[in-house]
Amino acid sequence: MNQEKDKNNQAFAEDSFEPWEQSNPIPLAFLVVLVSLLLIALLYYANSYYPAPTSESSVKLDKPAKLAALNLPAAPKVVTQGNAVVWSCASCHGLAGEGSGQTPALAGLTVDYLQKQLTDFKELTRDNNSMRYVVEHSSDQELEAAIHYYAQLERQPVNMTYLGGFASKGEQLAKQGKPEAGAPPCSSCHAPNLAQVFPSLEGQNPDYIYSQLEAFKHGKRTNDAVMPNNVQGLTSEEMRDVAEYYHQQIQKSD
Ligand code: HEC
Ligand code: HEC
Repeated sequence: MNQEKDKNNQAFAEDSFEPWEQSNPIPLAFLVVLVSLLLIALLYYANSYYPAPTSESSVKLDKPAKLAALNLPAAPKVVTQGNAVVWSCASCHGLAGEGSGQTPALAGLTVDYLQKQLTDFKELTRDNNSMRYVVEHSSDQELEAAIHYYAQLERQPVNMTYLGGFASKGEQLAKQGKPEAGAPPCSSCHAPNLAQVFPSLEGQNPDYIYSQLEAFKHGKRTNDAVMPNNVQGLTSEEMRDVAEYYHQQIQKSD
């Protein structure tokens, strides 16, 4: 019955089409889709001017329970609330300094290392859109308070992203290096007992480790003299392997 009616309508429309006729509902729907796509694109564009957390940095479902059990010390306001223009450090790095995806875990790093990185972000010897905005719009006191808070925390293995690396291959690279490519063993510097001097990689997010290795290799992170040489001869696959190995180290020591 309806079909017949539709057919009739169609015939009618075709026969007596006039330019001032009311528009067909189908082009209107297309228009709505087009306009929404345009709006979404505009929002993305506008968003790139403001430091947005990566999609993974929102707290995952299993996190609150784990974090609640940690009994964290009281955090300064800059960590929990930020200031008038900067988001809280915790909105990206987490209240336990656990980080997420390409946002690093800050727990387990030393005050000296954290301070150096903030200075580097300020002086643009290390560049990142989010962190440039954070250091430009936070006071020295706020930054000091934040890093002293994070430096006292133990790193927590709460992020389980998997990049497809093989930890066993990564272990070999970490412990023996890749001499034919001029890569010394990573653990000669990144060992737990040397964590005062070198950033600790145990339990760091694999996404982040991997992103930094690629950044060192391709001249995107230039705030250190040795790391770029250390990774020049590594393939992306080897970087994922070693990222997975270091990520898993903290789970084993639990
Ligand atoms: C909008 C998200 C965001 C906010 C807010 C944020 N960070 Fe970051 N932070 C990042 C990202 C992303 C990186 C990784 C940068 C890179 O890839 O080089 C980072 C890196 C860092 C590093 C370097 C860590 C390392 O292992 O080298 C430090 C230190 C740091 N942030 C401290 C802070 C502090 C302190 C605050 C609060 C005052 C803060 N961040 C707020 C996103 C954020
Ligand atoms: C000769 C010592 C040395 C060796 C060997 C070394 N590193 Fe590093 N690495 C450093 C130093 C120093 C830094 C900190 C640079 C800075 O101040 O920003 C660093 C930084 C890093 C970072 C960034 C950490 C962060 O929190 O941002 C990663 C990831 C890393 N190294 C991985 C590796 C891997 C993987 C290897 C082995 C293939 C390796 N390193 C070998 C000294 C070394």
